[in-house]
Amino acid sequence: MRPPRRGVLIAIAATLVVLAPLAFFWQRSLVPNDLSAMSMGYADHGGGPAEHAHHGIDVSTLKAPSGPADVSVDLTARKEKFDIPARGPMDGYTLNHTSPGPQIVAKQGDLVQVTLHNESVPEGITLHWHGVDVPAAEDGVAGVTQDAVGVGKSFVYRFVAKDAGTYWYHSHQVSHEQVKKGLYGVLIVQPTPADVIAAVHTYDKVRTVNGGYGERRVEAPGSTVRVRLINTDNGPMAAWVDGAPYKVVAVDGTEVSSPPEVRDKSVLVTAGGRIDVQVTMPQGSAVRIGLGGGPTTLVIGAGNAPTGTQPRDQVDLLTYGVPKALPFDPAKATRVFQYNIGRRIGFFDGKPGLWWTINGHQYPNVPMFVVTEGDVVRMTIKNTSGQVHPMHLHGHHVVVLSRNGVKATGSPWWTDSLNVEDNETYEVAFVADNPGIWMDHCHNLPHAAQGLITHLMYTGVTTNFHLGGGPDNQPE
Ligand code: C2O
Ligand code: CU
Repeated sequence: MRPPRRGVLIAIAATLVVLAPLAFFWQRSLVPNDLSAMSMGYADHGGGPAEHAHHGIDVSTLKAPSGPADVSVDLTARKEKFDIPARGPMDGYTLNHTSPGPQIVAKQGDLVQVTLHNESVPEGITLHWHGVDVPAAEDGVAGVTQDAVGVGKSFVYRFVAKDAGTYWYHSHQVSHEQVKKGLYGVLIVQPTPADVIAAVHTYDKVRTVNGGYGERRVEAPGSTVRVRLINTDNGPMAAWVDGAPYKVVAVDGTEVSSPPEVRDKSVLVTAGGRIDVQVTMPQGSAVRIGLGGGPTTLVIGAGNAPTGTQPRDQVDLLTYGVPKALPFDPAKATRVFQYNIGRRIGFFDGKPGLWWTINGHQYPNVPMFVVTEGDVVRMTIKNTSGQVHPMHLHGHHVVVLSRNGVKATGSPWWTDSLNVEDNETYEVAFVADNPGIWMDHCHNLPHAAQGLITHLMYTGVTTNFHLGGGPDNQPE
């Protein structure tokens, strides 16, 4: 055979020059199928000490107090068909044969106990108490705080409902599939009488409220009504009231200080977020709660309800309400972190595409934000990724200090689900007062599954659970 021509050799060399780095980046992007949250990426100490605790506390020991439960609930998860209104049967997941699952109502201070059974969800399940600052062992993150609960198995969650407010729960195993297809429910911690729940969920492109489609009518439970808006979807939703002025009385489970009355404005409910609005019922007519536009609305009271369209203006929580002293001083921060969300072309787990980055790194090579109990933490979340991200930190509430450099001047804006638009920068602060290993991720769950996830980790807390591994833990 003739030796190859020079031109052919050059072509082969050129191909190698292109392919070798591609192969390298492809190989490097593979997510190991058994990974510890503890050895993920690199530690970012936020300017604080890089202590190494000599003895670790296992996350599974960070539990609620023992003793009898005040509220006790059994939930059985199944993979089964159920009817979505206006569409027909859908293959999804239920809890006690319904989706949403049963509403759990507790009084502030109650010890809540939920026993979760997996009857037939092959991938396994967990429950996460979104917005409730539970002890770490009860947080329900597969592979971080527990193993996914396999078919035929059970898991008991216990926590004290110490903060009154509007919350929800959902699976945190293969959550981008399981939540969308029904594994979620509402959790209310009273005391707020006279309330109406508006839990919004989109099943297969059908937007529902409390599992119903179209105009849903409920009785007014009083002359002043608190409407608890819960967004269980992946994107933000504007909500508003037609037929009466209203006040935004709570955000993500925290009361707003001196909320003024608004009219002709909508309020944004972040994906995963909750907004409570208070409406004074008009004499002799009903009010309509607009939920993102479209046919599904909630009508409260008897009589006619006006049909409105989405107001142009929006309540801005940065300036809404009246300031109030914070329980800590953000100026005395002991850790300062940057959470920069970007996007770049590359491989993720061997797949080419446009993938999210955190501080320039792709999952799982992302920062691990390390704190010590008692730290005052400031974090700047900056989004230049081209899309909106509803950022959710587990186990804590953060207070917004500024947006795009403009200081917050309204009521303290406490949040657990923050809508960070493209080209926005939020500075938030919190106290590290709940030891554990906590996910800090985007609540557009497909984004989380594409690697928009990091963890907040307390010095000395360890986990023996693994992502992947035997129970195939896949929290996203
Ligand atoms: Cu509602 Cu980590 O989630
Ligand atoms: Cu996102």
